[in-house]
Amino acid sequence: MNQQEQDLRKKLELPDNSCLEIKKFRLSTRNSSYAIIVDGNSQYFMKLNTPVSQKEKKVYEFISKYDLTDIIMPVYSDDKVTIYPFIHGLKNVGIEESFDKIINFQKKLLTLENEVEFYKDDSFKNLYITRFAIRVLKHKEMVSKFWSDIDQILRFYNHHSLEMFDKIPKILNHGDLNPTNMQKDSSGKIYFIDFEDACYDHPSWDLTRSLMETDSDKADFFIERYIKEMPVLDKELFKMLINRDYVIRVITDSIGIQQNHEEKEATARLKKYEKNCHKKLTDILKND
Ligand SMILES: Nc1ncnc2c1ncn2[C@@H]1O[C@H](COP(=O)(O)OP(=O)(O)O)[C@@H](O)[C@H]1O
Ligand SMILES: [Mg+2]
Repeated sequence: MNQQEQDLRKKLELPDNSCLEIKKFRLSTRNSSYAIIVDGNSQYFMKLNTPVSQKEKKVYEFISKYDLTDIIMPVYSDDKVTIYPFIHGLKNVGIEESFDKIINFQKKLLTLENEVEFYKDDSFKNLYITRFAIRVLKHKEMVSKFWSDIDQILRFYNHHSLEMFDKIPKILNHGDLNPTNMQKDSSGKIYFIDFEDACYDHPSWDLTRSLMETDSDKADFFIERYIKEMPVLDKELFKMLINRDYVIRVITDSIGIQQNHEEKEATARLKKYEKNCHKKLTDILKND
């Protein structure tokens, strides 16, 4: 038995006579993950830690303490790995299925405004918003593959100062609510997973990530419902903020896609987001 296997047996309190296999899990998007197979069944899902795993741990504890939403709680973590129960048959879900879940999570978070000291530290800052203009200028070439008029984007950003939205509350954001991080099990229960990008910001930041996966007309439909259902008083201002976050989010991700994928895959993804988002981007920017 090798050392890694021995360690795992100890960590998970597995009997010595059980049969243990560790298999690389599919093509994980960002991090190295493994299925831990005990006596022929995938029983645990293990991720190697990254510099933000500590932050994620804090988030899990916070969410579970206040029962804020459904997450897959780790059964073990140390400085190297985090191990979760393996959930079989997980499937990606989009905003259509997760909309109510997102709203419920955010409504509960809004009632906890005084409890959030922990995520006001630097690791929860949303640099995608504060450093947006700098990033766009730095990655001009990438942005221009998605949206040709970069000055128009920068003008829009400058017309929407951070202070303009001071009245809108901030909460814990998941940070990357794309369908691979919203997972449904075979009973239909939806989990939010992978809180690596968690940040402290307006709730619209999370909403707009999930909107990128749907076409512009459907996005408008969900935005109307969202504004109605969220307990934010200044609805006009909230709508402006959602539009601002939509622009920042979509442009930011057009850069991220090109940084994280090979050219062919990146081009295919950009095409998809172009189809979904260009109409809405055009509408927002023409009214600026
Ligand atoms: N506990 C789990 N059990 C089974 N599969 C999982 C589990 N957690 C994640 N997965 C699968 O692995 C994929 C990647 O997981 P995630 O935590 O989002 O890693 P990454 O940081 O690579 O995006 C998910 O989309 C899901 O399909
Ligand atoms: Mg993920």
